[in-house]
Amino acid sequence: MTHHKVLVTGAEGCIGAWVTKQLLEAGAEVITYDLTAHNQRLQLIAPDLSRGRLHHELGRIEDTARLKSLVKDSGITHIVHLAAVLMPYCQANPVSGGLINVIGTLNVFEAARDAGRAVRISYASSSAVWGPEDLYENRKLNEQDSPLPSTHYGIFKHANESSAMVFYKTNGISSFALRPWTVYGPGRDGGLTAAPTLALQQVARGESYTLPVSGPMDLQYVEDVAAAFVAGLFADIDGAHVCNLAGEVIDMRDFVTLVEEIRPRAKGTLAVTGPRVPVANRMDDTLLNRLIPGLPKTPVADGIRRTLAVYER
Ligand SMILES: NC(=O)c1ccc[n+]([C@@H]2O[C@H](COP(=O)([O-])OP(=O)(O)OC[C@H]3O[C@@H](n4cnc5c(N)ncnc54)[C@H](O)[C@@H]3O)[C@@H](O)[C@H]2O)c1
Repeated sequence: MTHHKVLVTGAEGCIGAWVTKQLLEAGAEVITYDLTAHNQRLQLIAPDLSRGRLHHELGRIEDTARLKSLVKDSGITHIVHLAAVLMPYCQANPVSGGLINVIGTLNVFEAARDAGRAVRISYASSSAVWGPEDLYENRKLNEQDSPLPSTHYGIFKHANESSAMVFYKTNGISSFALRPWTVYGPGRDGGLTAAPTLALQQVARGESYTLPVSGPMDLQYVEDVAAAFVAGLFADIDGAHVCNLAGEVIDMRDFVTLVEEIRPRAKGTLAVTGPRVPVANRMDDTLLNRLIPGLPKTPVADGIRRTLAVYER
């Protein structure tokens, strides 16, 4: 894979760190684009990884001219676009959230369009394109169902999916989007649905913690999610593809029970309170598995063990 030069936006984030790790391990050259380059999460998950093929560019995803020149002048062949602000930020700051999440994504596609070479894009949409469970009959949702987002964040993500389709039809830019639900695992410490990972972090420290979200969530182990973004980036598939992602749906109370089974000393230290996430949680991932067979799906109990092992280290 050495001839691949991959730009990873939002590489300092949770998914970005795992994507960067997997790309470097696969032999790609990686340029990160983010507000910072402290590598904290990469250091957490891969302290011994060789960083010889890793370069950093600092910048804002809203900066159209910067992204265009970076993609054109650095010989980028692939982009994994993850830079974004998450649901609570977008609810509180819709204008700024829109500039980052919507204009930022248009910048990535326009930079690919004007690169003067074929550039493939793999990018993060979100299950937040789906509205609350009660808007749908009680069945799994596939990509033919209508997204009915109920948050600014979900509306922005849905807009990006539509823009990707227009860039394919108008400019022939192929892209691959995933709609993660709740990503968890080492490094997932920001956003509303960081609660399961924050709980594991506190268990590792011997502290108590109250999860501020309740009800069922679809938990997706971050290493699996990163592997799907990377596989989608290099898959030989033409078109603007948007895929649901499904992990394991678990009620947060059952999550706590499972953690207590795995680490009995955590008994009584975790509590669950607060609202449910207003997003349907029964996802059909047939399309993804048809496009890219054989993707990993770590059972939640294993994901909990692996996450604790990293935080206890
Ligand atoms: N974590 C989840 O459960 C989840 C679920 C669905 C979708 N997603 C999507 O996956 C992607 C990655 O999520 P994550 O959990 O790794 O998030 P994260 O918050 O850990 O990482 C996002 C990164 O984007 C960077 N960023 C933010 N604003 C920027 C700007 N203006 N310019 C440049 N960089 C900027 C941040 O510095 C950060 O490093 C996002 O697009 C997110 O919407 C995540």
